[in-house]
Amino acid sequence: MTLKSLTILAATGLFLAACATPVEPEPVAAPEWHLAIHGGAGVILRETMTPEEEAAYTAGLNEALAAGAAVLREGGSAVDAVQAAVIPMENNPLFNAGYGAVFAANGTHELDASIMDGRDRDAGAVAGVMRVKNPILAARAVMDNSEHVMFAGPGADQFADAQGLEMVVNTYFDTDRRRQALDRLLESREGKPLAALRTDEERFGTVGAVAIDSAGNLAAATTTGGMTAKAAGRVGDAPLIGAATYAENGVCAVSATGHGEYFIRVGVAKTICDRVKFEDESVGVAAAVALGEVADLGGDGGVIVIDGAGNVDFVFNSPGMYRGEISASGSSTAIFREPAAGDE
Ligand code: GLY
Repeated sequence: MTLKSLTILAATGLFLAACATPVEPEPVAAPEWHLAIHGGAGVILRETMTPEEEAAYTAGLNEALAAGAAVLREGGSAVDAVQAAVIPMENNPLFNAGYGAVFAANGTHELDASIMDGRDRDAGAVAGVMRVKNPILAARAVMDNSEHVMFAGPGADQFADAQGLEMVVNTYFDTDRRRQALDRLLESREGKPLAALRTDEERFGTVGAVAIDSAGNLAAATTTGGMTAKAAGRVGDAPLIGAATYAENGVCAVSATGHGEYFIRVGVAKTICDRVKFEDESVGVAAAVALGEVADLGGDGGVIVIDGAGNVDFVFNSPGMYRGEISASGSSTAIFREPAAGDE
């Protein structure tokens, strides 16, 4: 017997001996549930927001956090929690996601939504829906009750209706504020490209949530009305799995808000999760890299991210992002970019 084979045998023996020795299992802490939400990113500045507006947005964020936390606190699933958190924002006219959604150029509303369950990477999405009151419920129904991942246009509304979801007339989504934004944009057009005229508020506005539940499952959800005066039929990143929404257990969950055309081209949500999975980056670093790619192409916006251990990060390259988080340890909301240490 050679020295080499003796060494291998000895090592194998040691290995088997080690295997045979009973080892006390390390106590594994149950994951703490954690939920993060966003209500859109953009040029959101303290100096242009009244205290009343700030209080109203904060109340809207807290309502969404409370709805999601109620699910998680009772041991519910991350996917139920992100859905529960998104619904109040879809119903709140401050946010561009349902009632109060922006108008398309033709004076209608077309809504997009998606949801993903990190347990099995099951997903559902709807694009261009005009009649279902809560698009996130339609996306969830696609995931749970169809063999498909995405429905678009009238077929998506028909599917939602057949699922027994609450349907509304398209004017349900109208608000004076959004009508004025459409009128201002169309009146100032004078042959110029709309892209150059839209304010951030007219370009951005999406809601979303990411969560980890107490079983360690991840999920993400995103809904939007898109951008003011968008062309009929335009679809942004919000309903696209891998662009605005992604969730994979043990890796990360992402919901994005920003200029959809750029987020689609970068595949922001999947890029972030792939960097976490294959490059071993933190969700914050991976998100900064993906948003850097968005910026290189000329886009901006932000993401909320959570990793498989429940660490949350908010990353955005705009001056503000409506955002918040809640866990068993407490909750917080924020709107403006916090000055970095050392800033004047
Ligand atoms: N991020 C929303 C949109 O571009 O439609």
